[in-house]
Amino acid sequence: MPRVSIFDTSKTFDVNEGEILYDSLCDRGYELPHGCLSGSCGACRVEVLSGQENLLAPGIIEKNTIESLRDEFQKIHGEEFIQNKEIRLSCRAKVTGDVSIRPIK
Ligand code: FES
Repeated sequence: MPRVSIFDTSKTFDVNEGEILYDSLCDRGYELPHGCLSGSCGACRVEVLSGQENLLAPGIIEKNTIESLRDEFQKIHGEEFIQNKEIRLSCRAKVTGDVSIRPIK
């Protein structure tokens, strides 16, 4: 059973393989910020600190939204903020193994 860890908290959750990250955490009492729940608004963004390979590859909608977020973050915080960050949308990412995440404000 995959385990999801939330950085800077003592929270870890065992989730079912193939579950959507947002749904799996919400069902277990941990609600991430969210808006559309369809991959378009970017409100549910998280940085994946480890286990990137344990999330199924993003689809085109998620990819486009992440690209827009990267542009926005770069303008606001500069290139260093976004460099080497693995960003995923928790409402779209399906978990297949252990991951560690940090919500991005
Ligand atoms: S809640 Fe809008 S992209 Fe996930």
